[in-house]
Amino acid sequence: MCGIIGYTGPLQAKDVLLNGLSQLEYRGYDSAGIAFFESGQNVRVVKTTGKVARLKELCSSITEEIHCGIGHTRWATHGGVTVENAHPHQAGRVTLIHNGIIENYHQLTADFHLEGTLISQTDSEVAARVLDQIYDHDPISSIRRLVPLLEGSYGFCILFSDHPGEIYAVRNVSPLVAAYTHSGSLIASDLTALIPYTRKYAVVPENQIVKLTPYRMEFYQMDGTPASPEILEVNWDTDAAMKNGYPHFMLKEIHEQPEALKKTILPRLTKGLPDFGDDGIPDSLFQTCSQIRIVACGTAMHAGMVARAVMEPLLKIPVLVSVASEFRYEDPLVNDQTLTIVISQSGETIDTLAALRLAKELGSKVLSVVNVKGSTIARESDYVLYTHAGPEIAVASTKAYSVQLAALYMITCRMACVRGKMTDQEAASFMEDLLDVIPAMEEMLDQAETIKTIVRPLIDKPDAFFIGRNLDYAFSLEGALKLKEISYIHADAYAAGELKHGTIALIADQVPVIALATQDRIFSKMISNVREVKARGAYVILITKKEADVDPELADVRIRIPDLHDRFTVFPIAVVLQLIAYYASLLKGLDVDQPRNLAKSVTVE
Ligand code: F6R
Repeated sequence: MCGIIGYTGPLQAKDVLLNGLSQLEYRGYDSAGIAFFESGQNVRVVKTTGKVARLKELCSSITEEIHCGIGHTRWATHGGVTVENAHPHQAGRVTLIHNGIIENYHQLTADFHLEGTLISQTDSEVAARVLDQIYDHDPISSIRRLVPLLEGSYGFCILFSDHPGEIYAVRNVSPLVAAYTHSGSLIASDLTALIPYTRKYAVVPENQIVKLTPYRMEFYQMDGTPASPEILEVNWDTDAAMKNGYPHFMLKEIHEQPEALKKTILPRLTKGLPDFGDDGIPDSLFQTCSQIRIVACGTAMHAGMVARAVMEPLLKIPVLVSVASEFRYEDPLVNDQTLTIVISQSGETIDTLAALRLAKELGSKVLSVVNVKGSTIARESDYVLYTHAGPEIAVASTKAYSVQLAALYMITCRMACVRGKMTDQEAASFMEDLLDVIPAMEEMLDQAETIKTIVRPLIDKPDAFFIGRNLDYAFSLEGALKLKEISYIHADAYAAGELKHGTIALIADQVPVIALATQDRIFSKMISNVREVKARGAYVILITKKEADVDPELADVRIRIPDLHDRFTVFPIAVVLQLIAYYASLLKGLDVDQPRNLAKSVTVE
């Protein structure tokens, strides 16, 4: 979604802004722009559709010293991809950039008689014009009067032409982080744009106003009283957000998984058992609940689907998974006996956040599994289990998925012990099995080149089907999502037993079917389903454990994963499915890290 950067200080602001926008490109966008104080009170805007590289070209003729400005990458919501709709938006003395959606922009247009004055089709310009109308030369008091007029989500960075050198910001839901350094003050929609300058930052609290000058950052409550921000420290270094020799962030992040798993699991082991003492998660949280609700979006939701299939049989309580964007409309049966587990890499996904808030309102305790420290979901949850994947830059989630799984497996294990469903010995053996997935993933990473050759016949097919039963079905969901989002091959996942109820009509000569058969107790049933598609001409890529004995005629290609316990096969399978998607995208010559229409952090509903 939209990226935001602001800078005021002694450095050349043009470079800080343009470099910051490059760092934010991974979020997904379709136009970009900057605004800066040119001379005195003159604020100049340069904006374009397309890539930041194009904006850089447009700005190449700017040679004067610039010391204060804001920059934006836009992911279109209201209004098409045009220069007019790109940010910054200017209205009289106000120039602003915006991440989020102002839902009552129609009403504001009418109330402030803006009809006929708007240049763009955006809700953001409406906010700029309203702010200009109520502006009284005091930015803080004007923003205070603007906020109650707005409905929706927003992160605004604002320049007022009569306050050169100053940047003002306010947010509701949409994230903003700010930092003061010896080289000036910065603000951004996420940390990747700040880390070249500092490791210390503050999350801008909702409904506080921030004023940045070259010498300080000031925070104000909505009643105008000063506030002091909590200063946090980034727990990863700049290198983690670089490609480090890999051609794409996605490939780098796929390869980082074994290390990310170690960082997530090992510090939480005491005598071989999961221990969340340092995370401040008490055993009492796991003792009393009578059901678990898991809520998340996309890949994180798929991690939840896998966790459900592991948790329910072990814990013997109902475990339900909901897509976060649907949760609110399901009238969920959630109460103080429910433990809600929220999963999010970014910690900012707006639907997941809304679901979290509803679960809390209904009396549930919320435990979140989050990757980004200090994110909104982390801050609003009762308890947080941080995953330690480091920054995930590629839009397609890979390492975040496997560390989410590791965290969820640890939660399952701890909970099973606390509830008397596992002895310490059984739990220690469960954790040993979990650690064994690390070399198993490494083994599959070593087969990357083989997987690349396997993928070649897929790339000019319009469709692909992923099939599996039970846990294998849960893994298939993620395999299909990964393939479609970056290769644009239409891919769907089906519970293999369900094919006969309709979908098998789509299986014809050479239609690719990626069949997962790693669950011993239903292996023969799954193999029967593979026979059914093979008999109809499918091109079958069969993924099994090494030890599995399979008729060679059954599959066109066989991929063998290490012989792990059924519950744990997801980890090496994740590597295989991620590599299939990666090479499909690569061989099709597509933008692997920034697929079309997608954004890394989904901060609009
Ligand atoms: C797919 C992908 C998305 C995210 C989803 C949730 O590769 O990355 O489906 O998993 O948007 O994002 P988070 O985990 O940040 O809440």
